[in-house]
Amino acid sequence: MIRARTRSADGTRELAASLADLAQPGDLLLLVGDLGAGKTAFTQGFAAALGVSEPVASPTFTLAREYRGRLLLHHLDVYRLEQISEVLDLGLPELLDSGGVVLIEWGDAIRQALPNDHLEVALTFIDAQRSPPDERRVVLTPVGPRWQVRARAIAAAAEPWREASPR
Ligand SMILES: Nc1ncnc2c1ncn2[C@@H]1O[C@H](COP(=O)(O)OP(=O)(O)OP(=O)(O)O)[C@@H](O)[C@H]1O
Ligand SMILES: [Mg+2]
Repeated sequence: MIRARTRSADGTRELAASLADLAQPGDLLLLVGDLGAGKTAFTQGFAAALGVSEPVASPTFTLAREYRGRLLLHHLDVYRLEQISEVLDLGLPELLDSGGVVLIEWGDAIRQALPNDHLEVALTFIDAQRSPPDERRVVLTPVGPRWQVRARAIAAAAEPWREASPR
């Protein structure tokens, strides 16, 4: 588990861009966090670093969007419960096998139906009484061997935003 903190939406985009340099064909990232936590902002930075030139918007009402960069990026959102079965119908294993990278907002909602190997990106608001409102905590958890072998590289990529672990 790697704890980071960003100070603005652009900070979250930059952190995501740094992580995108590690992306490999077939990668799955689950973006977890409340409304407005920054899941789409993360995706924007990630996409930009993959060389996607079109603007990345939240796919909340479209289920999935596809962007072409160094790798094919599939951006999914399963906020609405009925989207879960639709996502399962999309054939996620095939998307991953075909060399794309899949980012799923609210992905924790369908974790049981997803491949075990993924990077969880959990974005949380920080106590607004004590910290500026634009700060977010970003906890990165590599799950499964595919991501665990990259744990050090992930930590290095996130280094500029690293937060000291609480004692
Ligand atoms: N540190 C930060 N990281 C990310 N976003 C931030 C940060 N500080 C402020 N923001 C703002 O918070 C909002 C995040 O919106 P975003 O659409 O990325 O959230 P989301 O998690 O995708 O929400 P939703 O669940 O509605 O899809 C934006 O308005 C952004 O400018
Ligand atoms: Mg969003």
